[in-house]
Amino acid sequence: MTHREEILKKQRDYLYPSVATYYDDPPVMERGQGMYLYDSEGERYLDFFGGILTVSVGHCNPRVTERVTEQVKKLVHTSTLYVTEPQVLLAERLAEITPGGLSQTFFTNSGTEADETAVLTAQMFTDRQEIVALRHSYSGRSMLAMSLTAHHNWRIGGTHIAGIKHAHSPYCYRCAFGREYPNCDLECAEDIEELIQTTTSGKIAAFFAEPIQGVGGFITPPPEYFARVMEIIKNYGGLFICDEVQTGFGRTGDHWFGIEHWGVQPDIITCAKGIANGAPMAATVATPELASAWKGKTISTFGGNPVSSVAALATLDEIQERDLLTHSRVNGDRLRSGLEALREKYSVIGDVRGMGLMQGIEVVRADKVPAGDLVDRIFEQSRSKSLLIGRGGLYGNVIRISPPLVVKSDEVDEALEILDGAFASLGADAHVG
Ligand SMILES: Cc1ncc(COP(=O)(O)O)c(C=O)c1O
Repeated sequence: MTHREEILKKQRDYLYPSVATYYDDPPVMERGQGMYLYDSEGERYLDFFGGILTVSVGHCNPRVTERVTEQVKKLVHTSTLYVTEPQVLLAERLAEITPGGLSQTFFTNSGTEADETAVLTAQMFTDRQEIVALRHSYSGRSMLAMSLTAHHNWRIGGTHIAGIKHAHSPYCYRCAFGREYPNCDLECAEDIEELIQTTTSGKIAAFFAEPIQGVGGFITPPPEYFARVMEIIKNYGGLFICDEVQTGFGRTGDHWFGIEHWGVQPDIITCAKGIANGAPMAATVATPELASAWKGKTISTFGGNPVSSVAALATLDEIQERDLLTHSRVNGDRLRSGLEALREKYSVIGDVRGMGLMQGIEVVRADKVPAGDLVDRIFEQSRSKSLLIGRGGLYGNVIRISPPLVVKSDEVDEALEILDGAFASLGADAHVG
C-alpha cells in the first residue's frame, strides 16, 4: 500500500463516512502556496475554490504565517474570560469596515455559531421568536442552522426548530413565479409580506439572508430586491440579519461586504470563512443596542482566540494594503466575461451569475433540466488538468468558482482555458439537444 492509499484507508476507517470529499479518487493534500495546492504525489493544483471561499489572500500567505507564528510563540489561548489585545483590535477593525453603526462583536469559530449568535441576539432584542429565511439557503450544521437552511441535502435529521418560515429565493433563472426579471414586479420580494401574514404571528424577529446564496449555487438577487424586502420586514418590526459568511471580505468586489452592493443596512452581520484565511474564526457584528440586548453572560472557549485573531488582522491588512477589493472586481469581471463566452459556446451552460470573484455556472439540459452528471464529468476532467473548482445548487448542477482574491489575470485565463477544454470533452453532450 502506498502512503497515499494508507491515508485514504485511514480516512475511511476513522472518520464518519458522511465526511464528503470531492472527486472519485480524492487527492491527499499536503501543502499550499499562494494559488496552488500540492498533493501527496507532488501534483500541483490551481485552486479556484479556495477551501470554500476561505483562503482570501493565498495559501500560506507569508504575512499571515509570520504573524501567526509570532503569536503562537507568545500566547495561544485564554478563552473569552480574559482580555487580549488581538481580540479587541480585530473587533475594532470590524467596527471600521462593516457598514453603518455595526460596532460590537461576539467571536466564535464557525459560520454556524455566528449565525446562532445572531438569531439569538435578534430574538432577545425584539422579544420575538419567528424568523423569515430563504429557500436554497445554507446556514450551517447545528440544529438551528439546519432549520434555517432550505436545501434538503443539508437538512439532516428531520426534526427542526419551529418558527422559521422560508420565502421563495430570488432565483431569477428558476423563478418560482414563472416571471422574468425585470418585468416581474419583484414578486419574490412582494410574496414575503403574504408569507409573514399567513404563516407567522405577524411579529417576526428577523429576516435572515445571504446577499448571494452560496451553497445554493451563487444565486444573485436583482439590484432592487433587498431594498423592497427591507421595507416589508421593517413594517412588521423585524431586523435584518445578513449572513456574509461567503460574501464578506471583498469576495464580491469593490466592497468589504456583499450586501453593500444592494445599498441596504443590515442590523446584524455574520461572518467567518474568508476573514482569517483558513484559521477558525467567526464573528457576529451588531449595533451596541442589539449587542446589549443579550441577557445574561456568554462565553466561547475558543472564540476570539489570539492566534485566529492575528490571522484575521493580517488577512485584513493584506486585503486593504494590496487593494484586493478592487482586484477582486477587476479579475472577477475578467472571469465573468470568459464564462459568458463559454456560455455562448456550450449551450449546456444555462446561466452565469455572481459578483466579483464569486461566479457560478449552472449546467442544464433542454428545458433547464439540471445536469449534475455533466458537472461530475467537468469536475473529473478539470481535476485531470490540475484545476480545482467547487460545486453547489439544490440539484448539484452549479459549478462554483471562487479563487483566492490574489488571483492574477493569467491564472484566470488558465482556469478558463481548462474549463473550456472540460466542456469540449463532453462532446455532443455539451450542447442542449
Ligand atoms: C452562508 C453560510 N453561512 C453559514 C455557513 C456555516 O459555516 P461553517 O461551516 O463555518 O459552520 C456556511 C458554510 O458553508 C455558509 O456558506
